[in-house]
Amino acid sequence: MSLFIKKPLNQLLVQEGADEKGLKRTLGPLNLIALGIGAIIGAGLFVRTAAAAGDAAGPAVMISYIVAAIGCAFAGLCYAEFASMIPIAGSAYAYAYVTMGEFMAWVIGWALVLEYALASATVSIAWSEYLNSLLGGAIPYQWCHSPWETSATGIGGLINIPAVIILLLLTLVLIKGTQESANLNAVIVFVKVSIVLIFIALGWGFINEDYYTPFTIPADVVGHEAWNRHGWGGVLGGASIVFFAFIGFDAVSTAAQEAKNPKRDMPIGLLGSLAICTILFVLFSHVLTGLVNWDEFKIAGKEASVAYAINKAMPGYGWLATLITVAILAGFSSVILVMLMGQSRVFYSMSKDGLVPKVFSDLHPKFRTPSKANWILFVFVALFGGLVPGSVAGDLTSFGTLFAFVLVCLGIWVMRVKNPEAVRPFKTPLVPLVPILGMLICSSLIYGLDYKTQLMAFGWLLVGLIIYFTYSKKNSVLRKG
Ligand code: ALA
Repeated sequence: MSLFIKKPLNQLLVQEGADEKGLKRTLGPLNLIALGIGAIIGAGLFVRTAAAAGDAAGPAVMISYIVAAIGCAFAGLCYAEFASMIPIAGSAYAYAYVTMGEFMAWVIGWALVLEYALASATVSIAWSEYLNSLLGGAIPYQWCHSPWETSATGIGGLINIPAVIILLLLTLVLIKGTQESANLNAVIVFVKVSIVLIFIALGWGFINEDYYTPFTIPADVVGHEAWNRHGWGGVLGGASIVFFAFIGFDAVSTAAQEAKNPKRDMPIGLLGSLAICTILFVLFSHVLTGLVNWDEFKIAGKEASVAYAINKAMPGYGWLATLITVAILAGFSSVILVMLMGQSRVFYSMSKDGLVPKVFSDLHPKFRTPSKANWILFVFVALFGGLVPGSVAGDLTSFGTLFAFVLVCLGIWVMRVKNPEAVRPFKTPLVPLVPILGMLICSSLIYGLDYKTQLMAFGWLLVGLIIYFTYSKKNSVLRKG
């Protein structure tokens, strides 16, 4: 049987409708928008904005945000069509199964692990760093660093306990229930969006217009010789850096099977969270680069850049710097929460199809959440979060996401040609132009990732192929008829 055996669309829709004993439908449109914002606002905004300003874009980092948002919007429009048409938990994986066949579906499902599971691990490590800085460095070095790290004074790391603890706590919430997780997420989103708004509103009054000239980094600044480190090229380079800030809006689509009215609400959740965050990001980056001259971000306060800017430019607002750190901790928690949820839902779908073991789709008898999958995932992600340095996983996350975006865009085009008559509650405009532009932008962002990341991602995909041919292909429900 062909590697590219496709799941018939009708079968998928029947499966979706018949899943009465499956995941509970508890999420409304506001929950879905909050889920998106929960996954989006995190390390990208709070850490990478300053990095992009200092390293590539200067005050024009706000334009970098717009460029990255345009790339995400193209992909988001394609996601919205799929998510309203095939509202099941597997997201991009499930869409690929229908449009490009089982093999591509497996590849994309495997790449999504890079996005969701690795993002949770990376952000748990960042969470631990911020907690320690909020506590004034009270956690001993060896208990908040991986064995591969050594402090300036020669202390070796053992295990990153706070990272493991936050992963454990959020796993417990996820097991308890999707509605409970969504409620916790909503509270966190409220806190972090409020603090971002307060920062924008109060910071606006302290903007120094002089810092906006020149708007992009001049070509003769030392260390900025590369084409993507100054001028308008630098704005593009900045877009690659801040792309990470948008990662996560697609996680909304993994909750399709738990949405009350997915056909209407999926596009609202996906595109609504993307639009709101884009506005916040542009304003936030405008204020941040108006408080401190961009070149200070080359060296000073990289990690804690927002607190640095407040302390420097807004006298008497030290409390806001502390609040921002709290918002960052809260923000990171919801990123982890939604990513872990997304990962378990992708595995849920793959398990229903027989491509990963059945244990991944066993539901908790009372909570009706995939609790065993959540536990297995916890062990996997905690091993990463506890034992691996944070820098390793960040760019791999971007790779997995961009790869999924490219295939989702391609999938929409294929679907329009092959299934023109399928019912589409939401239609991506201007097909094939929008998917083609989406593929072009996302592929060029993959191309822009460094070589080491590409090599590691390739290795990951190779492991995936071995599993596919030794396990998944043999156990595929579709092949067994
Ligand atoms: N968008 C998420 C963040 O910035 C992954 O943390």
